[in-house]
Amino acid sequence: MAVQRTFSIIKPDATRRNLTGAVNALIEGAGLRIVAQKRIRMTKEQAQTFYAVHKERPFFGELVEFMISEPVVVQVLEGEDAIAKYRGVMGATNPANAEAGTIRKLHALSVGENSVHGSDAPETAAVEIAQFFAGNEIVG
Ligand code: RTP
Ligand code: MG
Repeated sequence: MAVQRTFSIIKPDATRRNLTGAVNALIEGAGLRIVAQKRIRMTKEQAQTFYAVHKERPFFGELVEFMISEPVVVQVLEGEDAIAKYRGVMGATNPANAEAGTIRKLHALSVGENSVHGSDAPETAAVEIAQFFAGNEIVG
């Protein structure tokens, strides 16, 4: 497997509880490098664009309101097989189903307030990284 980049968000439920460092420790402990990172307040338009794939789902409105409710930390992570590796570190979408030791098992509050986002494929990773970072903000 080649070195990849993936896009990560530390979501509002985690920033609100001061868990940025705890999440980053799990990311780095798994061998992923944080090669870009910034704390932002997402606009409604950014959140709607980011989660556009879910716009017909019943939870879309709630999801957008959640993502803009508090600051988030957006990140680019780099490493061997980074996309799948980070999905593993995150754990299942619903923390009740997440494996022991994963970010969501340790920290998520619910299926909606689930502490982190990670890209699910190389194509989505590229689009998501480009939505939030200019090339010169990523330093590998
Ligand atoms: P993400 O995109 O945030 O990394 O999470 P994921 O791939 O594990 O889950 P996905 O199916 O893409 O859902 C995106 C986010 O929508 C919220 N959600 N709420 N209330 C619900 O039933 C529900 N289902 C999903 C979660 O915040 C989920 O991470
Ligand atoms: Mg997803």
